[in-house]
Amino acid sequence: MESGNKVIDEAAQGSATVVESENKDGRKVYIESYGCQMNFSDSEIVASILVKDGFSTTKNLEEADLVFVNTCSIREKAEQTVRQRLRSFQNAKKNKPELQIGVLGCMAERLKSKFLEEEKLVDIVVGPDAYRDLPNLVKQVDEGKKAVNVILSKEETYADISPVRLSSNGVSAFVSITRGCDNMCTFCVVPFTRGRERSRDPETILNEARDLFNKGYKEVTLLGQNVDSYLWYGKEGLKKDYKNLSDEEKARSMNFGQLMEQVALISPKLRVRFSTSHPKDITDEFLDIMAKYDNICKYIHLPFQSGNTRVLEKMNRGYTREWYMGRIDKIKAVMPDCAISADIIAGFCSETEEEHKETLSMMEYVKYDFSYMFKYSERPNTAAAKKFEDDVPEADKSKRLSEIIALQNKHSLEINQSYVGKTFEVLVEKPSKRNDQELAGRTSQNTVVVFPKEEYKVGDYVTVKIDNCTGGTLLGKAVK
Ligand code: 5AD
Ligand code: SF4
Repeated sequence: MESGNKVIDEAAQGSATVVESENKDGRKVYIESYGCQMNFSDSEIVASILVKDGFSTTKNLEEADLVFVNTCSIREKAEQTVRQRLRSFQNAKKNKPELQIGVLGCMAERLKSKFLEEEKLVDIVVGPDAYRDLPNLVKQVDEGKKAVNVILSKEETYADISPVRLSSNGVSAFVSITRGCDNMCTFCVVPFTRGRERSRDPETILNEARDLFNKGYKEVTLLGQNVDSYLWYGKEGLKKDYKNLSDEEKARSMNFGQLMEQVALISPKLRVRFSTSHPKDITDEFLDIMAKYDNICKYIHLPFQSGNTRVLEKMNRGYTREWYMGRIDKIKAVMPDCAISADIIAGFCSETEEEHKETLSMMEYVKYDFSYMFKYSERPNTAAAKKFEDDVPEADKSKRLSEIIALQNKHSLEINQSYVGKTFEVLVEKPSKRNDQELAGRTSQNTVVVFPKEEYKVGDYVTVKIDNCTGGTLLGKAVK
């Protein structure tokens, strides 16, 4: 999954979603989110649906009447984290027996009503396409029943749900543009938990982005499991139906490049990001649009998973090592300053030591700014679980992963060192964690920059000259 929308922010795992609401007397909901950015964005939809129905949100577990955990299934470890967290609610439920506990998201979809058998304290199980049903499900529990809705939809994009935002920095926000995934990578559970791919009406996307800009936001990130395959053709529907359209209907359709251009045109002062891209679908047309607009950030998250063509084929990724390198060459040709990051899996079924070396040599070829790196974790019911043996010994997986991590750390530091002495436009997001006399923001390339506050504030664009760095952060001073 290019779960990047799937970009997993470790620091944010388990954080609570709170929205401003008028319903001060309403029952209080506490929502905790795990996994990819899509889940965090969905929690805002859930909060919006519940607030509309008279509930209010809280950051305080102790005062909650309902607890929702938005869950992730991408790897075994993600599921274990959620189960541990659920068990930690036992005391809260003992103290307040009427407390309702609900699981949302990918684990809810994967386990369905089995969840109710396995985790006795759970009352509600809701899949990612059934959030509009939440008020009814809560009522069922009020009546003493348990409640489950895990129906996946071919149309639901929550296009009309007006955006509510995490008590965020007020500078950057996420906007979902597609839901689901049709790629069927053999290792991945996402096509089963999030269903078929659908694109959201571009009008609603543009309205949401414009509205954010008018409210003072300076950056939007367009989210989808595979943003490059965004395709709107006049109605919410499955992408595979596109081929049955008339030529006239096809001419009215909108692809990802066209959508991106429209969002970029809202204002040169609105930065646009996107996640996640798929190497088989990222087009020259899109890269040219990206190069044309300064406010489209020069950063691409382009997971490669493995550097070996046989392994890629076994993963059903739809590209070869050479194809991927060709995409990288094109990116570097049209945007020499573009940062690239990746997702990498170590020890997929039958991967040999030589094949693993090709993953390392791909890293050398690209020199990623940053990577998310994982050991292969077999997921129930995926094609890999059914057809292949998870046969790389744990010790080998660990060794390969540590080699990948060591190489990435080396590259991240080298790249950051190459930025020293250069000047970047930084969008300020927050005060620095370590020192309140400093501000933190990001460059177009998505690298974090920390610099002395002086007269600047959150939301400003500041030109900063870099004079030092670590592997993760650039340090510098504002240039007047
Ligand atoms: N095991 C390990 N990593 C996985 N990912 C997805 N499924 C698995 C799995 N079964 C990784 C991929 C994907 C990212 C979101 O998570 O690298 O791009
Ligand atoms: Fe990403 Fe592939 Fe999973 Fe789709 S199936 S979410 S493309 S890893």
